[in-house]
Amino acid sequence: MAGMNHRRFAVLAPMREELEAVLALGKTGRRHDILGFEGFELECFRHPVLVARCGVGKVQSAMVAQRVIDEFRPDALILTGVAGALAPDLAPGDAVVARDLMQHDLDCTPLGFALGEVPWSGERVFRCDEALVRDALSATTAHKLREGCILTGDRFVTGSDRACHEHLRSDLAGDAVEMEGAAVAQVCVRNRVPFVVIRTISDRADGSAPEDFSKILPMAAANAAAVTRRILEVE
Ligand code: ADE
Repeated sequence: MAGMNHRRFAVLAPMREELEAVLALGKTGRRHDILGFEGFELECFRHPVLVARCGVGKVQSAMVAQRVIDEFRPDALILTGVAGALAPDLAPGDAVVARDLMQHDLDCTPLGFALGEVPWSGERVFRCDEALVRDALSATTAHKLREGCILTGDRFVTGSDRACHEHLRSDLAGDAVEMEGAAVAQVCVRNRVPFVVIRTISDRADGSAPEDFSKILPMAAANAAAVTRRILEVE
């Protein structure tokens, strides 16, 4: 219920533009250095929030997530930012709230594991917290907002990877692709921290992805922050 219990939130964003869109949601306080990335205390709807940049890619984002969990002890974690669309109904600016996430580039299939399976852990698909997903989906936005499956890998997917794009959509049923979500999700699961991943579409993971990405980033980052704001408002 709004304003009743002021849970501690951590909000991570890979890039500076995405971070700044989140910082605009509240009153910024103390600055922290988190493994070389900037983090800021923020008050938003009376929640104490730590907003941190986590860098691009699985390793950087996972290490920042672990450090933030250790030092700030959040009750819940939100990862926000942009993604490339895989589903044909998603256009630039649209938002996808992850129902589940998987690492599409974790491939130990020669050893008998399923694609994306973290060997000997039983982990493959990471599910976001249901209440946080529901909160995020209740945001009012000018663009489409829906839940979906987000795929994560250390690779920016473009038109030169037509086979990769097809594989992510047809074989893995991904709605959007990015480079941090499932890694941060795994850290949250191991630490038993409820989490949600919110992504807005910056490009179609095709031939014009690199140009679209830079052009659309500010608008997409603002939309992702608006969905994040809704969670903080209703929690
Ligand atoms: N993030 C935004 N667009 C992306 C793409 N095309 N591939 C991977 N991550 C992305």
